[in-house]
Amino acid sequence: MSYETIIVERHDAVTLVTLNRPQALNALNSQVLADLIDVMAAYDADPGQRCLVVTGSEKAFAAGADIKEMADKSGPDMYSAELYAEWSTRVCATRKPWIAAVAGFALGGGCELAMMADFIIAADTAKFGQPEITLGVAPGMGGSQRLTRALGKAKAMEMCLTGRRMDAAEAERAGLVARVVPAADLLGEALSTAKAIAAMPPLAAIANKELVNVAFETSLSQGLVNERRLFQLLASTQDKAEGMSAFIEKRPPTWTGR
Ligand code: CAA
Repeated sequence: MSYETIIVERHDAVTLVTLNRPQALNALNSQVLADLIDVMAAYDADPGQRCLVVTGSEKAFAAGADIKEMADKSGPDMYSAELYAEWSTRVCATRKPWIAAVAGFALGGGCELAMMADFIIAADTAKFGQPEITLGVAPGMGGSQRLTRALGKAKAMEMCLTGRRMDAAEAERAGLVARVVPAADLLGEALSTAKAIAAMPPLAAIANKELVNVAFETSLSQGLVNERRLFQLLASTQDKAEGMSAFIEKRPPTWTGR
């Protein structure tokens, strides 16, 4: 697969997607958005691919939606096109796991893209922020909502109202990122984490992702019902029989995804 604004590589069962608009600090223009949903749909449909990593450059994961592209768009244009709505829905419809590996700037839409991932691994150089207010707007790809759920009201409100950037250490303390690693190790750590996920039984990976996401969308009692149902459903898979037999027989399991 070849794309205009992203580089796609396969590392066994892991797809590595590198945002590649260095001249614009990986700003998310409409071509990047189209390339991303295309590669994510292809990943989801490929049974040989079991985890995906999205990363950027050393300087920028992504410095936001493309301001130069947005500058001429009117409010009515954006409203009638429901700008970013279908795109966000399609990215978030990815059923299989994916990770954002963030170094440098993850601002505006860049921070929002990272937060759409199942989790973020950050380099110690990462800087997260929602600076839209400084442009006279507000987050438009879910930032005000996902940041608030991730950080709580105080920090999210402060970041959205001031445009302040949060460094990697603070982001880890606040629960925005799963782990911070030295910048030189970011890709290696993200790929080895992705390979560990890719080695898990694929249906159970999808189910675990779905259940954690359900926790954000519904009440505890409804979430617990969902968890029980998926737990019970997974009990009927060949991979459950294999996983439990392998444990008892003290051998590695072989997953079939059935
Ligand atoms: N859109 C378009 N181009 C961008 C961009 C963006 N979001 N961010 C950076 N660029 C471009 C710059 O215009 C510049 O291009 P030229 O060389 O042609 O002038 C190039 O990338 C390098 O940027 P800088 O010279 O500014 O680099 P720097 O190191 O001095 O500063 C930065 C880096 C602090 C990230 C700064 O570029 C910046 O503040 N960028 C904008 C960040 C921002 O406001 N993001 C939010 C966008 S709005 C949004 O995302 C809405 C939404 O929720 C959907």
